[in-house]
Amino acid sequence: MSRTLALGVLISGSGTNLQAIIDEIEAGRLDARIAVVISNQEQARGLDRARRHGIDAVFIDRQKYSRPREYDEAILAELVNHDVELVVMAGYMRLLGHCVLEQYPNRVLNIHPSLLPSFAGANGIRDASERGVKVTGVTVHFANEEFDEGPIIAQEPVRIEEDDTLESLEAKIHQVEHALYPRVIQWISEGRVTVENGRVRVSSAS
Ligand code: GRF
Repeated sequence: MSRTLALGVLISGSGTNLQAIIDEIEAGRLDARIAVVISNQEQARGLDRARRHGIDAVFIDRQKYSRPREYDEAILAELVNHDVELVVMAGYMRLLGHCVLEQYPNRVLNIHPSLLPSFAGANGIRDASERGVKVTGVTVHFANEEFDEGPIIAQEPVRIEEDDTLESLEAKIHQVEHALYPRVIQWISEGRVTVENGRVRVSSAS
């Protein structure tokens, strides 16, 4: 098996963060490989993005499993079969089950389009825009059993200007996401990220 960090990427939709990770790997700036992409949506554009780059891409149909636990066990089986070391949620719109989190302690990442703990939930960009805050941003954190909680690894601010629209704010947020997520994965690949008492420490590059 290759010594580069093996990623399992979970998606539900367009997969632009997945694409950013693929691009950084292919550019030689991210020392990782994507072992498998898993989607809970058959039509997710991210599945095509993965396949175009020769990456195994699997749709796992929730309808085929009577209980959420069985569904999560199916996801876990794919991750384990592909020797995944780090699980990367990139627009995966379901809560990940206990069995996966237990198998990958502090090894499941999530990206959220706000400065958590502000504006958690499915509409982080719109909620920040409607609240009228002047600064929002992007958070990368380890996942736990609650939505958008878990130890925070990195945050980047994004300023909301007077002339920003929801669309322009979304574009700015996504641009920051696409730079930040691969960078955090690289830190993990370099062994620089540790968690102590629920707080993350990122040591400097050696
Ligand atoms: C991103 O904004 C991410 O922060 C949120 O879902 C969105 C996924 O976008 N969790 P994409 O599928 O990577 O384009």
